[in-house]
Amino acid sequence: MKVVVISGSYRRKGASAFLADRFIDGAREAGHEVFRFDAAFETVGGCRGCDYCARGTKPCVQNDGMSVLNPHLVDADFVAFVTPLHHFHMSAQLKAVIDRFYANDARLMGGKRAVLRATAKSGSSRTIQGLVDSYMTIIRYLSWANAGEVLALGCGDRNLIEVSVFPDAACRLGVSLK
Ligand SMILES: Cc1cc2nc3c(=O)[nH]c(=O)nc-3n(C[C@H](O)[C@H](O)[C@H](O)COP(=O)(O)O)c2cc1C
Repeated sequence: MKVVVISGSYRRKGASAFLADRFIDGAREAGHEVFRFDAAFETVGGCRGCDYCARGTKPCVQNDGMSVLNPHLVDADFVAFVTPLHHFHMSAQLKAVIDRFYANDARLMGGKRAVLRATAKSGSSRTIQGLVDSYMTIIRYLSWANAGEVLALGCGDRNLIEVSVFPDAACRLGVSLK
């Protein structure tokens, strides 16, 4: 199956990058084809809301990193969102990518499963609830099914997540994709 991983941190060797790595290890071990899109290192402009895409001639006025991601996204069976918690929400880099789904909504609707992987400094589940609610609302809108979450609370840095249970949980989630 085709898996697209969209990660949203500027910290290349950070906590959420490590979670993404382990998930990808698991997915590849299970024989899935993985395409990774590190949003922070791609050029992805914010959606301008110009509605040019609604005219149906061209998907978007912006020709940037989304042009690389879109074909993979349309073909994907699974979409994995990976993000550090930034002010109780996903990072701006990941949000910019999701906002740009707008130009492709019709082709993205239905038939996919999604997973969420997030890291946060705080150990309190309340701190991450807004992100989880938002993720669930977005995938419900897209008619995608939720295939699981790994919420690495209390893991604000790579050295903390490396010794936690979360990398193995992310790997198992990758292995278990069906
Ligand atoms: C701008 C910013 C906002 C943050 N907001 C929160 C927050 O609201 N709650 C929290 O627990 N941690 C917060 N953090 C900490 C990060 O979520 C945490 O360090 C995360 O594990 C970093 O992942 P990364 O290494 O993949 O970037 C914030 C960090 C930054 C840089």
